[in-house]
Amino acid sequence: MAIGNGVEERETWSSRRAFVLAAIGSAIGLGNIWRFPFICYENGGGAFLIAFVVALMTAGIPLLVLEFGIGHSTRGAAPKAMRSIHPRMEWFGWAATGIGFVICAYYAVIMSYCANYAVHSLTLAWGGDAAGFFYRDVVGLTTVRVDSATAAAADSLRSAGAAVPEEMIARPWSLGRFMPWVAVGLLFSWVCIVLSIWKGTKTVGKVVYATVLLPWALLIVFVVRGVTLPGSAEGLRFYLHPEFAGLLQPSVWLAAYTQVFFSLSVGFAIMIAYSSFLPRRSDIVASAFIIGIADALTAILGGFAVFGALGYKAHLAGVPVASVVQSGPGLTFVAYPDIISNLPVPHLFGILFFLMLLTLAIDSAFSLVEAVAAATRDKWGWSHRRANLTVGGIAFLCGLPLTFGVGLHWLDIVDRFMNQIGLSLVVLGECLLIGYYFKSERMRRHVNELSDFGIGRWWNLCIMAITPLVILWLLAAEVIARIREPYGDSGLRSQEFVFGWLVLLLIFAAGLLLARARGAAPRGTARPGPAPPGGR
Ligand code: PFF
Repeated sequence: MAIGNGVEERETWSSRRAFVLAAIGSAIGLGNIWRFPFICYENGGGAFLIAFVVALMTAGIPLLVLEFGIGHSTRGAAPKAMRSIHPRMEWFGWAATGIGFVICAYYAVIMSYCANYAVHSLTLAWGGDAAGFFYRDVVGLTTVRVDSATAAAADSLRSAGAAVPEEMIARPWSLGRFMPWVAVGLLFSWVCIVLSIWKGTKTVGKVVYATVLLPWALLIVFVVRGVTLPGSAEGLRFYLHPEFAGLLQPSVWLAAYTQVFFSLSVGFAIMIAYSSFLPRRSDIVASAFIIGIADALTAILGGFAVFGALGYKAHLAGVPVASVVQSGPGLTFVAYPDIISNLPVPHLFGILFFLMLLTLAIDSAFSLVEAVAAATRDKWGWSHRRANLTVGGIAFLCGLPLTFGVGLHWLDIVDRFMNQIGLSLVVLGECLLIGYYFKSERMRRHVNELSDFGIGRWWNLCIMAITPLVILWLLAAEVIARIREPYGDSGLRSQEFVFGWLVLLLIFAAGLLLARARGAAPRGTARPGPAPPGGR
């Protein structure tokens, strides 16, 4: 069965390995190294791993199969794919693509920080004041009100007996300084991203060998280094010590499901676009399992490197591990540089660490650009070059405001809204559309016809019931939390309104407009007809 059985000649991956590596590259990103270990520790350590594996099996891998099935059968990036499934749903595909685009715009700013730190590693420029260096000299925070994450980081510095930089203390609000080197790093990141996908799957298929295998090799170096440092055992105990009571708390399960969505890049429109370049006969089910398991193992392994090193940091300072644990920017750009300074050959470890992050991030970022560019090619028949340059150029401009000091707060807000609300809405929409309109059993048969080993009927249950129910619950909890405790207490309520709710609204409005815009089918391309539900 082919849903979009047009006679188009769509570019295809050079091999199944190229596709699987590209999808793994997209899935494995900064989320694995700076998000997973911390979330795991915060939600019951070893017990969280159980919730995580359940979420992976009941939602993560089933959603990968779903998105691969959608992309493969409609042979289109998200907007075209959604239009093929239901002629009135193109806007939804654009909205998913828009959410991915916004995430990509700020993700490149984090890549710029990594690139700057790779250079700073040459001189260990952060000296003995990693926190001050990050907030003052890299981010450019001057006098801003702090968000809750910064306030928490300041608290943990205080409790560790370290000096809290001025920039982390709440003050009247201002834009902060423009940081030219962050802007240069941003431009550099974009040049790398656009060059990596210059000729679509042809270049991506080759580049991913480097961007997946290199960070894996470097991660192994850091795991070995991390677990052989003095004090590492205490750090690992912290990371993995199981608090089984946690499994009775709903928040632990919510954290596990959100982490799985983010980590597998589902709901970003990426996996739909990538699978639209699969050849007709493709083993979708096995690929989904390989990608899901590789991503989960990388995250768990990343935790060994991170917590081994944090144990070492606590050991050096003679304080408990809990007081040196930080997440997000605090972990990567404050705690880790600190640890690196205390290692033998610190310059080398510094460069390798930030190179690892950069290579981890680049294939996640370019998978998003490819998803947006493929959508423009589907709609207007743009060439690769035009699509990549336009998408890259606009995303670069969108990232520029984040190179001001206050950008870190904006980034934090956009990140939270896009991940917790944006991605959840997209995944929910996909499950409902395929589960109830298109019929998941029909998609399951399509996928099984192509795959060497098929997926059982339990998949329908995951798509029609488990995932939608978990997301509805997740969304309700998040919306209530955002309304009840916004950043208002730190003076950022209006910021949250603009960079959270308004951005989300704009994305959905843009989706509606783009769906109405007149398209131009590329030469020699037949548009797939709408798929009548129930038709075989
Ligand atoms: N799966 C990615 C990660 O874990 O980092 C999520 C992601 C983030 C993908 C940002 C793409 C992206 F641009």
